[in-house]
Amino acid sequence: MLTLGIETSCDETSCAVLKGRDTILSNVISSSLFRHQPFGGVVPEIASRHCLEQIDIVFRESLCEAKIEAADLDLIAVTKGPGLIGSLFVGVSFAKALSFRLGIPLVGVNHLEAHLVANFIGKKEPEQFIGLLVSGGHTSLSYHKKGKVKMLGSTVDDAVGEAFDKVAKILGLGYPGGPVIDQLAREGNPEAFKFTKPKLDNEFDFSFSGIKTAVLYAVQKTWHPKPFDRHPKALRAEGSQRSFARPIKPGKLRMTVNKLTTSFIRDMAASFQKAVVDWLIGKALAAQERYGVKDIVVGGGVSANSRLRQKLSEEASPRGVNAWFPEKILALDNAAMIARRGFELHQKGRRDSLALVGSAHLPMG
Ligand code: KG4
Ligand code: ZN
Repeated sequence: MLTLGIETSCDETSCAVLKGRDTILSNVISSSLFRHQPFGGVVPEIASRHCLEQIDIVFRESLCEAKIEAADLDLIAVTKGPGLIGSLFVGVSFAKALSFRLGIPLVGVNHLEAHLVANFIGKKEPEQFIGLLVSGGHTSLSYHKKGKVKMLGSTVDDAVGEAFDKVAKILGLGYPGGPVIDQLAREGNPEAFKFTKPKLDNEFDFSFSGIKTAVLYAVQKTWHPKPFDRHPKALRAEGSQRSFARPIKPGKLRMTVNKLTTSFIRDMAASFQKAVVDWLIGKALAAQERYGVKDIVVGGGVSANSRLRQKLSEEASPRGVNAWFPEKILALDNAAMIARRGFELHQKGRRDSLALVGSAHLPMG
């Protein structure tokens, strides 16, 4: 059985051909990252236009690499959400047209579920596990048993990947922030800066907006180490008090960043990464203990983070717990994971009609 996977939930356009359950014949990914970099983040309109330009080329390339014809396909699996609605619209429309033309079934796939399932390609899936989803748009903990999902918690503000991206922006490191912080953190001191762990009513929820603000304040402090050292009257006389007290404006950030030393940036990257990874691991292990499971399955772009991979594996192993991470190419957005999830759903009897539409917000389960 040959499944075509189609992924267009954000800035990537990807098509993959999966043979059976486990054999990836092709997984072609076209990223529009370079088009968003000048803006410091993903611009939805640019992302969807890129998907539209690329989808047919990427589809043909995926068939070519898999050495098959379109007529050989048996099933189409497409991301139906969550994501940017314009990008989702491109993939879903393309999938529906192809399904109609080829006369083969169509299955809509939840992108977040696919991120976790990416771990099981070529492996035996555990009967029950804790899912730790860490992507650019989502962060959540979930309990999975025999195909049923119970949501345990999620972020109350920023997603963890978003926090990496915003902190990188504050440090003047460009977009996306995760890979560059991961790289710089290797040469920094993770103990240089301390961050307060957020207090949340639900122990399995996450919050990352506080640490982002703490990094911003630390950067501002470096710029004006002791802004209130001088008597407020003296500052008023100079007409400069307000400018010290006001939060920094984006335009001024460039000046701030120029004044940061390389060692400050490395230490901040290492300390931020350590704090975030410790929080993720703490909650994942607490959930694992609560539900008495032996497997923690990590998915989403931040699962590529080297400290998260190393530390979670180190902490899980003495407890007899397996920490699952997808292969790097399957950690970021890709269509092979969509094909795999679509194949599973099809085996369970799921079919979608040509009335399928994309949803920007789509919970797991
Ligand atoms: O799952 P993904 O490809 O897209 C979404 O579905 O959101 O995740 C992208 C996110 C970005 O925020 C990026 O900065 C982050 O994954 N990321 C990383 C690393 N590689 C990518 N974060 C930390 N460390 C990395 N090595
Ligand atoms: Zn994703």
